[in-house]
Amino acid sequence: MQPATEIKKNPKILAEINRRRTFAIISHPDAGKTTLTEKFLLFGGAIQTAGAVKSNKIKKHATSDFMEIERQRGISVSTSVLSFEYHDTLINLLDTPGHKDFAEDTYRTLTAVDSVVLVIDSVKGVEEQTRRLMEVCRMRDTPVIVFVNKLDRDGKNPFDLLDEIESELNIGLHPLSWPIGMGKEFKGVYNLFDKELLLFKPNQKVTAEDVPLKDLNDPVLEKNIGEKYADQLREDVDLFEGVYGDFDRGRYQDGKLAPIFFGSAINNFGVKELLETFIRIAPVPQKRKVTTGIVEPTDKKFSGFVFKIHANLDPRHRDRIAFLRVCSGEFERNKYFHHVRLNKDVRFSNPYTFLASQKDVIENAWPGDVVGLYDSGNFKIGDTLTEGEDFYFTGIPTFSPEIFKEVVNKDPMKTKQLEKGLVQLTDEGVAQLFTQFGGNKKIIGCVGELQFEVIQYRLKNEYSASVELVALPYYKACWITSRDPKKLDEFIKFKPSNIAEDKDGHLVYMAQSEWFLNTERTNNPEIEFHFFNEVNK
Ligand code: G4P
Repeated sequence: MQPATEIKKNPKILAEINRRRTFAIISHPDAGKTTLTEKFLLFGGAIQTAGAVKSNKIKKHATSDFMEIERQRGISVSTSVLSFEYHDTLINLLDTPGHKDFAEDTYRTLTAVDSVVLVIDSVKGVEEQTRRLMEVCRMRDTPVIVFVNKLDRDGKNPFDLLDEIESELNIGLHPLSWPIGMGKEFKGVYNLFDKELLLFKPNQKVTAEDVPLKDLNDPVLEKNIGEKYADQLREDVDLFEGVYGDFDRGRYQDGKLAPIFFGSAINNFGVKELLETFIRIAPVPQKRKVTTGIVEPTDKKFSGFVFKIHANLDPRHRDRIAFLRVCSGEFERNKYFHHVRLNKDVRFSNPYTFLASQKDVIENAWPGDVVGLYDSGNFKIGDTLTEGEDFYFTGIPTFSPEIFKEVVNKDPMKTKQLEKGLVQLTDEGVAQLFTQFGGNKKIIGCVGELQFEVIQYRLKNEYSASVELVALPYYKACWITSRDPKKLDEFIKFKPSNIAEDKDGHLVYMAQSEWFLNTERTNNPEIEFHFFNEVNK
C-alpha cells in the first residue's frame, strides 16, 4: 500500500476522491425512491422535467439496453447509474430495482456504494424490504441517512416512528430535521443541523420557503406556524437536544448512527436540505477489503471490481455491459489492466460513464466512479481488475434463493447453446445455478417468479434454447462446511438427493422446509449451514 508521503505527491487523486460521493437510494417499493431520485436529478441539472425518471426516459438514455420484458411489464429490472454534479461535488447515484424479485441485484449494488439514503413511508413505517436492505447495509457497516417521506399525509407520530425505526432496524437515529404537524396540518420542518425553519407550501412546485431564525424563541416562529405548533416544536427540540446531543459524524460514517430527515419528495419538500446535508456529511470513496488486505482509494495503482452485468437484448449485439466500480488509482481508456480471474491483460477502447442523461466515452475515471465496459462474455460478478496484483475484492454476498426449478431441455440439438446460456446468465447474476451432486440435473434458484420468466425468455431469444422449468419442492439452499471433512463426506453420502454444487463447486444443502433444515442442523452439529455465501471469499 502507498505511504502517506506518496499521497501528498499525488494531490490530483486526493482532489478527485474528495469531490466524489457514490451512493444508492433504497426503499420498500412505493415509499418514494423514484420520486426522490428524480428530485435529486432535477437539483443536479441532470434532468429538466419531473416525470422523466418514472417514464424511464433517463434510463433509456443512460443505459439504452433495456430488456424487452422490462418494457412489456413496465417494471424496472436493472440497476443503472446516474452521475451528476451538484455545486462542486460529483455524485454517482446507483439506482436499484424496486421489484423484490430482483432484490439480489440491489444487494450487490450496495457493495459498490459508500453510503445509502433509505426512504421510509411515514404512513407505513418500516416494511419488509426495508428490513432486508438494512441487514445488507449492516453487514458492511454502510453509513445510512433516513428520509421519512410523505409528510403531506397523515402518517405515524414522528416519535413513534423514531422508536419503530430504531428498534426494527437496530440502528441509533439522530434527527437532523423535525416535522411540524403532518397531513393537512403539515407546516414544515425545522432543520436542526442549520437551525432553520422550512415552511411547507402545499401545491407549490418550487421548494420550501426558508425562514431564518435567530433561535427557537424568535417570535417569527409564532407568526409562521402559530402558537400551538411553535410551543410544540420548542418542547420537541428541547427534548431531543437533551437526549441526542451534538450530531456525531464519525458514528454515522462508521454505520452506527443514522441521521434522519423528514419531508415530502413529491412536493420537493425537504429534498434540497437532504441533498445539501448529504454532500457535507456523506463519506467520500472509502477503503475496501481485498483477499490480501486493504485497498486505499489513494493507492497509486488502479483497482476495481464488477458488481453488475447488464445484458444487451438487442439480438444483433450479444455484448453485455459490465459495471465496474473504481476502488483505487486511476482507470484509463486503452490501458492494459490485469483481469485477475482469467489471468490475462485486457483493455477497453470505449469505456463510458453515466454523466447526466447520456452515455459518454471517457478517458479516465477515479475512485468512486462506475465505468461501463463492453463485454463479450469475459466478466462475471465479483471479477477484479488491477494493474498486475493478484487479489479480489471481498464481501459481495449471494443469498439463498427462494424458488427452485429444474431445467429440462426441450431441444437436445441445442444442448451446447443451453449450457452456454445458463453459464452466462448466471454469471450476470440473474439467478443461481446448482448441479445436483453426483448427477447432472441443473437447478436454477431465484428470489421471484419473474426471474424465471426472464431466464426462459432470454434462453430462447439469445441462445435459441427451449427449456421447461419444473418446480422443485425446496425452500432454501444452504452452503455447508465443516471443520471435519469426514463428517461432511458422511453427511453428503446420506443425503445425496438434497446435495448440490453451486457454480464455483461449493457444496449446498437443499432443504424442503424449515422443519427439515432445523432437524438436519440439530442432528448434525458438526456441519455449518450458511444462509449466504460470498463471492471471492
Ligand atoms: P418507489 O420508487 O419507492 O416505488 O416509489 P415512487 O417514487 O414510485 O412513489 C410511489 C408513490 O408514492 C407514487 O404514487 C408517488 O407519486 C407517491 N409519492 C412519492 N412521494 C410522495 C410524497 O411525498 N407524498 C405523497 N402523498 N405521495 C408521494 P403513485 O400513485 O403510485 O404514482 P404516480 O401516479 O403519482 O406516478
